[in-house]
Amino acid sequence: MEIWIATGNKGKLEEYKLTLAKFLEIKVYSQSDLPVFSAKPETGTTFLENARIKAKSVKALKADYWVLGEDSGLEVESLNHLPGVHSARYAGPNARDSENVAKLLKMMQIRSGANRQAVFKCMTVVYTPQNEELIFEGVLKGTISPKLAGVMGFGYDPVFVPEGETKTLAELGPAWKIQKSHRALALSQFLAKLKETTVIS
Ligand code: IMP
Repeated sequence: MEIWIATGNKGKLEEYKLTLAKFLEIKVYSQSDLPVFSAKPETGTTFLENARIKAKSVKALKADYWVLGEDSGLEVESLNHLPGVHSARYAGPNARDSENVAKLLKMMQIRSGANRQAVFKCMTVVYTPQNEELIFEGVLKGTISPKLAGVMGFGYDPVFVPEGETKTLAELGPAWKIQKSHRALALSQFLAKLKETTVIS
């Protein structure tokens, strides 16, 4: 089977490719493999709405194939669950990961509370070749470290310490993330569904 991942985020794509590499029957492509593609604005107010926007924009060009769109983000308890759907643009429309992380730490410092609880959420929408919509969700609980640590991954990985761990995702690296992250949890439900329907073995 051919699956098209509706993302322009290299970090995310890397994680999908690493997980799917062991399924030799699955060929992975992304929107950057399309000759012409322009991403639609993420105007949704929920992860699900934005995941649909992304998946549909690729499905419109790859109607006969499997298409996966995903929207994810970080919700911090003491910040009223922000940055949420704004995670990629928290510090501004074209903000770099380092700027988003700096803003997050600053906002948490302003709140000065001891509550550093946070969750990563991933909402995944898959369209089958027959255009059936499948929805999967993954959640990863953790805390926000006051200092950056680690160099692997992307986004908020350098400040997110998963529950039960003492290191950040950027220290734990891709081997940990492809087993246990919010993205991995949503993806494993999709893979289970594919196995159930014998698309893969
Ligand atoms: P999206 O591409 O609009 O879904 O943006 C998701 C944003 O949430 C990313 O740009 C990151 O800032 C953040 N994010 C989502 N998943 C992760 C992750 O696994 N690690 C670190 N940051 C993440």
